[in-house]
Amino acid sequence: MNPIPFQDFRRMLEPNRDELERAAARVIRGGKFVLGPETRAFEEEFAAFCGKRFCVGTGNGLDALLVALQAGVRDVRPGDEAIVPAQTFVATWLAATHVGLKPVAVDVDPQTGTLSESAVRLAVTPRTRAIVPVHLFGFAAPSAAVAGLARERGIFVLEDAAQSHGNPEIGSGDAMAFSFYPTKNLGALGDGGAVVTDDPELARRAAELRDYGRSPGTNVCTVFGENSRLDEMQAAFLRVRLRTLRQEIELRRKIALHYLSEIVNPRILLPGRGSSPEEKARSGVWHLFPVRCEARDELRNFLADRGIQTATHYPELPCEQPCYRDAHGSFGLCGEVPVARRWARNEVSLPLWPGMTFSEIQRVVAACNEFAG
Ligand SMILES: Cc1ncc(COP(=O)(O)O)c(C=O)c1O
Repeated sequence: MNPIPFQDFRRMLEPNRDELERAAARVIRGGKFVLGPETRAFEEEFAAFCGKRFCVGTGNGLDALLVALQAGVRDVRPGDEAIVPAQTFVATWLAATHVGLKPVAVDVDPQTGTLSESAVRLAVTPRTRAIVPVHLFGFAAPSAAVAGLARERGIFVLEDAAQSHGNPEIGSGDAMAFSFYPTKNLGALGDGGAVVTDDPELARRAAELRDYGRSPGTNVCTVFGENSRLDEMQAAFLRVRLRTLRQEIELRRKIALHYLSEIVNPRILLPGRGSSPEEKARSGVWHLFPVRCEARDELRNFLADRGIQTATHYPELPCEQPCYRDAHGSFGLCGEVPVARRWARNEVSLPLWPGMTFSEIQRVVAACNEFAG
């Protein structure tokens, strides 16, 4: 029986392959490789796709978070805080740490793994300078409610949208940071990222910060910036991939709907907001399909024995990573976050990617239903 990979880039890129090759040839022949016409065009196209005015391309998603926080939170003082979800990819936390903000962890929602608004409300202090809701797995965090409470207090809201390109419910904060790492719903063929915002001043500062702190078009450094620009080759690839992103999201939703309506196993908790499988399928853009199972390793081994590759996102909470433990003592930054800890203990991501065949989807469903724990 053929193995079912967790993701298969060759098959995922197949419908775009000719166009991607033409885009690469165009960049090579054009002879401009950094901050040229492809990056400018992609920035315009992606801003429009997000329904926003500005997009500033960066070298990766971590730098998009970093540049946006630097642009949005001025004069950071020791002890200033950023509220972040306890369960996320470590990059969300690293961005806060790198700009001098102490990450303050809040617990997450059992159905989606995104931060809970009530937990944010309790965590806000006079030292809170930023809140970073993460649209994890493709589900929108409650960023509109969070933005409402932040606005009253002058707190900057940066949405980590690395896993939620195309989700119509995101974008209420001051800015969004995207990653175009190849596994993402909008993936480059290498690293890439972007800051997206409606705020012209924030966009201007982000454009300076990604380019050594220079005012665009000059050699004058007004702030201490970094070098993190989306390059022309990746921008050209992303322009191709953006054109089919909406169709790919619909394919992802169709696969999610199969899983949500056909996996029936009390040992496997299914994700999503809403009551019916249809409602749940529409509640995300399905970057991942994260189920929870108390017997996580047994489930993964059982699926692996049937040729089905899975992954876990993320078995270690950022606060448990040695870099955070060493700096702040065991669990010093996390406190009581039982739901996030359960996600970290029990999460298994099933294969879900555009290009999976019907029989592969049926094999995943059948194997999940056979699992007896
Ligand atoms: C939630 C989240 N934030 C940030 C990042 C960082 O993006 P990058 O890998 O492009 O630096 C990622 C992806 O890797 C992510 O999943």
